[in-house]
Amino acid sequence: MMTSESKSSEKLLLRALRGETLARPPFWLMRQAGRYLPEYLEIRRQAGDFLSLCYSPELAVEVTLQPLRRFAMDAAILFADILVVPDALGQALSYREGEGPVLEPVRNAAELRRLDMAGLHERLAPVYQTIRRLRQELPPATALIGFAGAPWTVATYMVEGGSSRDFATIKAWAYGDPEGFGRLMALLVDATTEYLEAQAEAGAEVVQLFDTWAGVLPESAFERWCVAPVAEIVRRFGKSHPEIPVIAFPRGAGVLYGGYAEATGVAGLGLDATVPLGWAARTLQPFATLQGNLDPLMLITGGAAMRREIGGILETLGKGPFIFNLGHGIVPATPPEHVAELAEFVRSWRA
Ligand code: CP3
Repeated sequence: MMTSESKSSEKLLLRALRGETLARPPFWLMRQAGRYLPEYLEIRRQAGDFLSLCYSPELAVEVTLQPLRRFAMDAAILFADILVVPDALGQALSYREGEGPVLEPVRNAAELRRLDMAGLHERLAPVYQTIRRLRQELPPATALIGFAGAPWTVATYMVEGGSSRDFATIKAWAYGDPEGFGRLMALLVDATTEYLEAQAEAGAEVVQLFDTWAGVLPESAFERWCVAPVAEIVRRFGKSHPEIPVIAFPRGAGVLYGGYAEATGVAGLGLDATVPLGWAARTLQPFATLQGNLDPLMLITGGAAMRREIGGILETLGKGPFIFNLGHGIVPATPPEHVAELAEFVRSWRA
């Protein structure tokens, strides 16, 4: 059998996810396409609303490629949103200017009856088309990442009807009626698995599960509603697509990052900016390729302070299998020149 080390023509991101330690780690940035780029804002205006942009293969391909033209990341991430899954399950969704996503909430087992998987792939077909076109257009060294929201995080938007501060409605349901809530989570495990499988069949080479709100649950609920559903998706997806690595990003998990990679079976683990580097290197890196974790707000500062932080991350985590990234998504106020500085610094770094 060929070892991963011998296939040095393979894309850097894939080599890192197979467990190789690279002298120059690959990098990409969460939310690398988006409002900090004037050329994104232009396409966004043309598309009208945000969902139309997600469902227009031509425009979605264009905005996926925009950051790569400027910064030559080692990976492209499909342009879509985690909330296309509830949309495709039949839950009404819109994005309001300055307000974020607004959904017709599903708060109990009775309201859950409004949703089903019958129209899932038909509604999501434009996303699969975007992936097919991207595989034709991407430079040969650039990997293509597909993604979905993890069930818990997607459920927070579905149940709260949008973004939330306290997660009171979803916790009332999950704590008070775990069986009923479990039916929503089972539906999301099914839909997410099928969605990722279709992305892989269209040409995604890696998939990432975003669990943005993993950090709001106590231990027992974290195990039940974050770890177990992700483990089930990884298990099923790994059966149909054993060659495609899965990265999970359980943002804010804190001490509960410990044991997460082993329990879920993910190849890659995304770290938020609060995870201590030395602890991650010792405790987490033996079990997964790590990804992260520059504070995205450092990109507002830029310059020597930012380079010092990046250097510290590369020094500590670069000694093992590692993908450089942010600890959360780029914020809209980010100056593109600072992203260029970051890209230049990471690309020229050598262990
Ligand atoms: O470049 C990329 O990373 C690919 C595209 C992508 C988007 N959203 C585009 C987007 C990805 C991977 C996401 C993931 C996503 N979406 C997450 C998980 C990651 C995270 O940031 O925590 C979450 C929680 C969502 C849900 C979502 N989508 C919210 C809460 C909002 C409104 C807030 C905001 O950032 O605008 C969105 C809208 C959204 N998704 C935009 C983009 C570019 C902005 C829409 C616009 O142009 O007006």
